[in-house]
Amino acid sequence: MRPARKRVAALISGRGSNMLSLMAAAKHPDYPAEIALVLSNKLDAAGLATARDAGIAAVALNHKDHESREAFERTMQAVLEEHAIDLICLAGFMRLLTPWFVGQWQGRMLNIHPALLPSYRGLHTHERALEDGVKIHGATVHFVVPEMDAGPIIAQAAVPVVDGDTPETLGARVLRQEHVIYPLALKLVASGATRIDGNRVTTGERASERLLIVPTPV
Ligand code: GRF
Repeated sequence: MRPARKRVAALISGRGSNMLSLMAAAKHPDYPAEIALVLSNKLDAAGLATARDAGIAAVALNHKDHESREAFERTMQAVLEEHAIDLICLAGFMRLLTPWFVGQWQGRMLNIHPALLPSYRGLHTHERALEDGVKIHGATVHFVVPEMDAGPIIAQAAVPVVDGDTPETLGARVLRQEHVIYPLALKLVASGATRIDGNRVTTGERASERLLIVPTPV
């Protein structure tokens, strides 16, 4: 018998293209996780309707209705528990999380960041990469720790920066790879292949699945 699939909540604030890539991967019966819940802090997040159309529970919680960051997170936590969630995937969730919430999900919460961490933490990563003239840029999936855009790295994809790139063209090239590595990283975590040792994540014989290098612009 197959082991039970992990129940995943995707936390979003906007369009939800990464959430969609996770949903698409989870359609495969052998995939070790299912997207059981989509939770947004924005009532008008486009991803909510997409999730509902796919028959996935979608909940919007307005953080502005809560008196503090932690009060909002306590409401989120209750919803996550109600849906028996095992793992969280932050997918464009634009709220900083408190150490309390991160502590509840230690080793069970993933984030995707549009840069090769530890370079370019924070916002406007593509603009900053172009300003610096780097030739390689990319995306990172990592476990979430209290510090923003830090934490043990599960998978990365590297893409070239080419002449004439704008933040939009470079961002689109990176995003295509985000949609590849996020499902891959979730698969590794949900199947129990990952071990966290300090800042390092090991996956035994599946190490080669964690680094994606895209040699030519597409
Ligand atoms: C992505 O670029 C992701 O790396 C970042 O936020 C963006 C979310 O995009 N964390 P989408 O909502 O998944 O389309």
